[in-house]
Amino acid sequence: MDIIHSVDTMHALALGWRARGKKVGFVPTMGYLHRGHTTLIELMRPRCELLVVSIYVNPLQFGPTEDLTRYPRDPDGDAKKCEAAGCDILFMPESLYPPDFRTTVNVTGITSRWEGAERPTHFAGVATVVCRLFGLVQPTVAMFGEKDYQQFTVLKSMARDLAMGIEIVPGPLVRDHDGLALSSRNVYLSTEDRARALSLHQALYAIRDSRSPSAKERIALAREKLVCDKVDYLDIVDPDTLEPVELVNRPLRAIATARYGRTRLLDNVAIGP
Ligand code: PAF
Repeated sequence: MDIIHSVDTMHALALGWRARGKKVGFVPTMGYLHRGHTTLIELMRPRCELLVVSIYVNPLQFGPTEDLTRYPRDPDGDAKKCEAAGCDILFMPESLYPPDFRTTVNVTGITSRWEGAERPTHFAGVATVVCRLFGLVQPTVAMFGEKDYQQFTVLKSMARDLAMGIEIVPGPLVRDHDGLALSSRNVYLSTEDRARALSLHQALYAIRDSRSPSAKERIALAREKLVCDKVDYLDIVDPDTLEPVELVNRPLRAIATARYGRTRLLDNVAIGP
């Protein structure tokens, strides 16, 4: 595995691959890799000839009161995990944007609710960095975990709307042995909060396993189970538009974000018909 820090080197290499018609797979990350990330890398491996993983903690997607400065980092550990998972090129730029960077990519509509309502500048930051990374890496196919389900739908819309010619593939949400969705931010949780946080996936499973056709009834059931300091949202939505539904009569998504102290945890589950 090669490690590239320079934006220009990455771009020149990628343009060479493109000229030679190589199939390039890409897994963008913010590092502090866990089994959720390595699963994406392993799943991407057989889909491409060259596999690029990026690690960049993108300031544009953090709000002014969020955890940018304390976001966990482990570059040496991450490099070992990437190599073991089958990565060819680890792209770890120190800075990604030129000083006179002037562009913002804004996906409208599906970004106004849920995470977008709680973090108004977040998705513009995500879409902008991913667009720039796509330009630098020139991937044929890119994978984003369904753990951040809204992010996945936003990036899929961006790639389609801008005719980027990049296949956007969902990667599975990976859970810890006790069901907690893996997240780099789990490291912030106290032992007590981590135990309380198990109620998050249990609440979503209650929604999934209920037989009631009423979304309202299923959500009420889940609210009873959820133990946290604050629920940012808990709802049942259309898997493409992310609009809330009233009737549970087709494949849908139950989505939730709950706060434990200063830590926000996201989770979601697919609901069958
Ligand atoms: O999901 C993440 O880790 C980030 O939002 C992403 C897609 C790498 C963009 O910074």
